[in-house]
Amino acid sequence: MTAPPARPTRRTHHCAALRTGDAGASVLLMGWVRKVRDLGGLLFLDLGDHRGVTQIVVRPDSKAAEAARRAGVHWVLAVEGVVLRREPETVNPRVATGEIEVEARRIHVLSESRTPPFPPGSARGVAEELRLRYRYLDLRRPAMQRNLRARARLASGIRSSLERNGFLEIETPFLTRSTPEGARDYLVPSRIHRGRFYALPQSPQLFKQLLMIGGMDRYYQIVRCFRDEDLRADRQPEFTQVDIEMSFADPEQVIAVTESLFEEALRGVGVRVGPPFPRFTYEEAMDRFGVDRPDLRYGAEIRDLTDHCRGSGHPILERVLAGGGAVRGLAAPRCAAFSRKRLDDLGRIAVEGGAGGLLWAAFRDGAVRSPLKKSLGDDRLRHLLEAAGGDPGDLLLLAAGAPRAMSRALGLVRRRLAASEGWIRPDDFRMAWVTDFPLFEMSESDGRLTSVHHPFTSPHPEDLERLETDPLGARSLAYDVVANGYELGGGSIRIHNRSIQERVFAALRIPPSEARERFGFFLEALEYGTPPHGGIALGLDRIAMLATGSASLREVIAFPKTTSATDLMTGSPADVRPVQLEEVGLQIRPRS
Ligand code: AMO
Repeated sequence: MTAPPARPTRRTHHCAALRTGDAGASVLLMGWVRKVRDLGGLLFLDLGDHRGVTQIVVRPDSKAAEAARRAGVHWVLAVEGVVLRREPETVNPRVATGEIEVEARRIHVLSESRTPPFPPGSARGVAEELRLRYRYLDLRRPAMQRNLRARARLASGIRSSLERNGFLEIETPFLTRSTPEGARDYLVPSRIHRGRFYALPQSPQLFKQLLMIGGMDRYYQIVRCFRDEDLRADRQPEFTQVDIEMSFADPEQVIAVTESLFEEALRGVGVRVGPPFPRFTYEEAMDRFGVDRPDLRYGAEIRDLTDHCRGSGHPILERVLAGGGAVRGLAAPRCAAFSRKRLDDLGRIAVEGGAGGLLWAAFRDGAVRSPLKKSLGDDRLRHLLEAAGGDPGDLLLLAAGAPRAMSRALGLVRRRLAASEGWIRPDDFRMAWVTDFPLFEMSESDGRLTSVHHPFTSPHPEDLERLETDPLGARSLAYDVVANGYELGGGSIRIHNRSIQERVFAALRIPPSEARERFGFFLEALEYGTPPHGGIALGLDRIAMLATGSASLREVIAFPKTTSATDLMTGSPADVRPVQLEEVGLQIRPRS
């Protein structure tokens, strides 16, 4: 009896390694079957791994034929064979190994696979739920492989940039107390201290400040954060921050460190950004783009046209101006031929955004078309177009009312137009800073002041007195870094003095007793020689999403949650056994 051939244990090459120079070599490849083509006599397999694919050709009379005929997609094979140069007419220029193939001598089945729920290769037409339920199969797709590799390269570029700048990676706890970042906490019940809970960190904000008090000088951490909030394509309940803090730093130093980090990390994935990034104050960003995360990949900026509209005799404009309102406008390039329906659609967006309506004028072939024609006249409308930075062929859009609200509404219209009119070049990456954020805003839900960033943000030194007299008018030393209309990071110089911290808590209507109970340890720490310090946190998932051109964070996270915060593969969140609830002293009440 002859012993079955020994199973090989080591591959000689990855599946994307072989070239014509290897012709004649005996090789051993291992990988997954991506495709099978049975041409009656000859049988072709695409064998793939994380690097690429190699075509395997199996002759019907070879020892490999029987295993090859059984194998289906996702089977794991070891293929012993010889590298052959392909005939010129069968060369495939789209793959790196397209000039060769491997003629199989022997095939060892390392693992079989059930018939997969969706074909390997493209995700087109496959429901995302199915991809997430079988995420391990989805991860085998080249696109997911590329994304996760790009993410890893980004993280490694970030680490090397920060370490060169003297930052120390330090871990902070996950089982901790609530930190206020504006979302709900995920709570973890304690078994040992029944009835008590840890909170998973929304960010390591207080710990990084305590590290500065602890003399660590420059800290960073690539760290998971947890927020129980409403999810969107750019939000996950657990996400990763590049968290940074530095002692004795002013905003310029934090900005310089962050810009060089972005430059180095993005270069590693083929995206060029050149510091210094343009800067806008919050007021300027809101006025010019109607949003605090401006997208600089296209123009059509919002302009203030109030003075140009005075004395027009138009009833809406007159009423708004008499009431102290403003007229804001933007010129949409090459949109003068828009139909009534498209104008109505834009009007609806403006109304959803808080405008009373949208006024318009279209400039085409020397003529002006506009409902404002009668009251303003062609010359004045042309003048308005010019004041909005537009040209003939453009569509002028105007919103009249409360100034900030009109800018916001036009900001929405501007973003919608950019998407529908193809104003965005797919490989464009435009970063910017937004500075001088207000310290507080009025919460719409309960009419209370809340922090725009978080309560540890330093007020602008010129606005300290406003904490008590005009808190909504107080600026902060906070800055955001944005790219392509997304907020990629936010940070600030921090309060390093207990009494200012207490004044901020007081402005937020947090009673001293509650402040002591929630943050007493931190207030106390501030009294033991706190260095001035500041920092920033960047959203790694968002950076990876933009750098890879992905439409959602789920494309750059190995095991993401759905928008309803569930993991379709493991089935979490899940029930727990009664004994587990008993141990932590919990009882589930049905929703009343
Ligand atoms: P902030 O709350 O602005 O600041 O968060 C920093 C960055 O983290 C990313 N981010 C998210 N990404 C995905 N899903 C989410 N749910 C999510 N929430 C936030 C964003 C954001 O810009 N402690 C402060 C930072 C500091 O002051 O240093 C903080 O957490 O890209």
